Amino acid sequence: MKAEEFQKKFGIIGRSKEIHDLVDITMQVAQSDISVLITGESGVGKEVFARAIHNFSRRANKELVSVNCGAIPESLLESELFGHKKGSFTGATDDRKGYFEIADGGTLFLDEIAELTLMTQVKLLRVLETQEFMRIGSETVTKVDVRIIAATNKDLQREVDSKKFRHDLYFRLKAVNLNIPPLRSRRGDIIEFANHFLKNSSINRTNGFKIAKEAEKLLVNYNWPGNIRELKNVIETAMALSKTGILDVDSFIPLLTIETGTDGLRNLPVHINRPPESLDREMIYRALIEIKKDLMELKMFAQKTQSEVGSVNFNSKLNEVVRLNILEKDAIINALYFTKHNKRKAANLLGISERTLYRKLKDYGID
Ligand SMILES: Nc1ncnc2c1ncn2[C@@H]1O[C@H](COP(=O)(O)OP(=O)(O)OP(=O)(O)O)[C@@H](O)[C@H]1O
Ligand SMILES: [Mg+2]
Repeated sequence: MKAEEFQKKFGIIGRSKEIHDLVDITMQVAQSDISVLITGESGVGKEVFARAIHNFSRRANKELVSVNCGAIPESLLESELFGHKKGSFTGATDDRKGYFEIADGGTLFLDEIAELTLMTQVKLLRVLETQEFMRIGSETVTKVDVRIIAATNKDLQREVDSKKFRHDLYFRLKAVNLNIPPLRSRRGDIIEFANHFLKNSSINRTNGFKIAKEAEKLLVNYNWPGNIRELKNVIETAMALSKTGILDVDSFIPLLTIETGTDGLRNLPVHINRPPESLDREMIYRALIEIKKDLMELKMFAQKTQSEVGSVNFNSKLNEVVRLNILEKDAIINALYFTKHNKRKAANLLGISERTLYRKLKDYGID
């Protein structure tokens, strides 16, 4: 099977080199029974790749059992994994199969593996080595044929260093390590993801939604701390809130966690190793995002104040108008600063004609 076909079949989006490399390894390791460790920040697609490995393996027609090791109370985890014998502890009213037995012939996906206690880690290592274990309270050995895929968003090496994770288990697991990079280091995939979520959302019944070009730039430049999950949520929320079907910069700004405050601009993600022009463009863009955000907040504040004071308080409204003018002047000064006083470029960035910019420069007394 070709990589493209594989991606289509298993719903893996992305054309970046990073995704291609991951797909290559995934296709290769899926055929064997070797354990795989999938690492990466939250929301990067660890589960997507775990499913693809299972579904592309000879185990595809058997179960893929997913266990979130962090979500099961410590006291129950061993019994959940290995099962128990009736009467082996208070509450064990029946014999019970654990996930290892349920996954027999298939794959066991141990998500958040760093959350396992050291005791359970020992037992897991033993099963990995022998494919044998005992149900809690039982003296007979159970043999299974299970492939293990483990995942974590923690740095396991660091967990090993701080003695929270056994190094022997770590070495065993990391023989094949799929490290899925964060979305911000494969920005080339962002628009494809955005359009995919746009098309496939249940909100998009009429297929009438579009992302404005300027908004695309915003999405590409944003840092996506929550990775693909965040992108998906942002697209769906923007769609749900949109009145026109056109998702523009204003539709997205309130949904992104762009830091504000005096240091706001400096805290925005800055990418190095790029040609200086592209950095310049990015700086300008970031400045404009900040200004737009301020404007939106101000508009919301003005609306709120108006509705709070009613329509009789003329002074309050007048104040808001004055403040908007100040902001407009600031926006113009910023745009000029970032374009090194190139008025045509500044007008372009501000979304107004050059003629209007000249008029405003005169009005505000800017040279
Ligand atoms: N390459 C991809 N192609 C298509 N969808 C993806 C891809 N990567 C991630 N997604 C989507 O992004 C969302 C998050 O992915 P997933 O649940 O696999 O992340 P995760 O790494 O397991 O996150 P967590 O650490 O929080 O469990 C899901 O809706 C998933 O379908
Ligand atoms: Mg997950």
